[in-house]
Amino acid sequence: MENSRGNWGSNIGFLLAAIGSAVGLGNIWGFPYKMGKNGGFAFLIIYLILAVLVGFVIMIAEISLGRKTGKGAFGTYKELAKGFKWVGAMAVIVPLLIMTFYSVLGAYCMEYMFVNLGDLAFHTLNMSGGDLFGAMLTNPFGCIVYTFLFMALCFLIVKGGIKDGIEKFNVVGMPTLAIMLVIVIIRSVTLPGASEGLKFMFAPNFEPLKENFIGVLSVAGGQMFFSLSLAMGIMITYGSYLSKKENIVRNTGIIVLSDTIVAIMAGLAVLPAAFALGGEDAAMSGPKLLFITLQDVFASMGQIGPIFGTIFYLLVLIAAMTSAISLTEVIATMYVDRCAEKGKEPNRMKATAVICVIIFLGASVIAADGLGSNGMWVPFQNSLGVVGSFNDCWLDFVDFIAEGLLMPLGALLMSIIVGWIIGPDKVKEEVEINGTHKFAAYGFFKFCIKFFVPVAMAFILVGQVDGFLGLGIFS
Ligand code: PHE
Repeated sequence: MENSRGNWGSNIGFLLAAIGSAVGLGNIWGFPYKMGKNGGFAFLIIYLILAVLVGFVIMIAEISLGRKTGKGAFGTYKELAKGFKWVGAMAVIVPLLIMTFYSVLGAYCMEYMFVNLGDLAFHTLNMSGGDLFGAMLTNPFGCIVYTFLFMALCFLIVKGGIKDGIEKFNVVGMPTLAIMLVIVIIRSVTLPGASEGLKFMFAPNFEPLKENFIGVLSVAGGQMFFSLSLAMGIMITYGSYLSKKENIVRNTGIIVLSDTIVAIMAGLAVLPAAFALGGEDAAMSGPKLLFITLQDVFASMGQIGPIFGTIFYLLVLIAAMTSAISLTEVIATMYVDRCAEKGKEPNRMKATAVICVIIFLGASVIAADGLGSNGMWVPFQNSLGVVGSFNDCWLDFVDFIAEGLLMPLGALLMSIIVGWIIGPDKVKEEVEINGTHKFAAYGFFKFCIKFFVPVAMAFILVGQVDGFLGLGIFS
């Protein structure tokens, strides 16, 4: 059975795939705009603290438990925590939900890349970023076609399996992404006026924390575990394909550090450029930063603009794809494991196709809605009487269920299950299983997983719900 499941070809393959999962739209799109809207430096500090005390700790637990059972999220909870099978089921439903909008955002990047490429070749683009974005969103057919292409690519990679599909794509894609990011950063920070952006990111300023501590905490917390791909079975799944020889704690440290560095690098690529060409308002423009503000930034660079535009949106597309394949793999692994349980030979190709079609169908609704431009959410909301505004858009609603509710809840439950039911010593056992890797930070791990993480997650959960629904509990 072991063989039909497969394993990573090498530790570096595992690392690049895990970093590939972590580095995604969350880093390149979410991090800069959330940092822009939530106080720059203050947000960065809270983010870093949470990444070490919560993210690092949860990730060690997830990778260890996955490797221990050799099963995906569902199988792992079923085996280790009797009565908590449903938490594992949640960890499979959340990726499905996330993929329905993640694929649409990936599709936007693909469309932007082609638009910039077309402009490079034929100089055909003569509209502002805002007009371009509007035109794209109000063309549901185009968005659905690009979403289809994104999912088709995702299918082609995941059907190849762990070593021949996912690992291969990441080993080429991740270094390419890093090089392109450096190129865009060099352009961004050398624009006249970019220093304002650098100051905003790195000059100490704690004012925003005094104004709304829980608000900043919950946005930074939500961002942190979305960015690290936590609480949805991904690291459990990727860990289940990891060899017993490898050092889990060191690997986790590398993944968390890389993800954080890329997020800060993305901030450097985006915020100084936004400041330089549009001032503070541009930097604080929220979700549209990537698709409107930056497109204008590229346009204002003259002849070379489309080159940077093409490179940048290709980079974001690769980042989105390496995350999307991990989300799809969680579901594929669950199927492969179930087949093994029943003694059947799994048909990965067929299963991956079914999963991708289901995701595509859900994503089509979100693509057609065009972030609310085509008015598909409001009638639905009215007929169900759902409260909250969700910016009148489907994407925000699904994001609320997944990122705002189920993910923090999943992380909260997971820390309680590991800290108090399975017991942190099981994680220690797995980390040290080979006899060569001592878990030196075990005391720190045990304290965090038992006490700090559950409390922090509870605050983050309430803060997220408050933020999404605009209840104003903390502000
Ligand atoms: N971590 C990815 C990002 O930053 C998104 C993601 C979330 C991927 C959860 C997998 C699981 O964009």
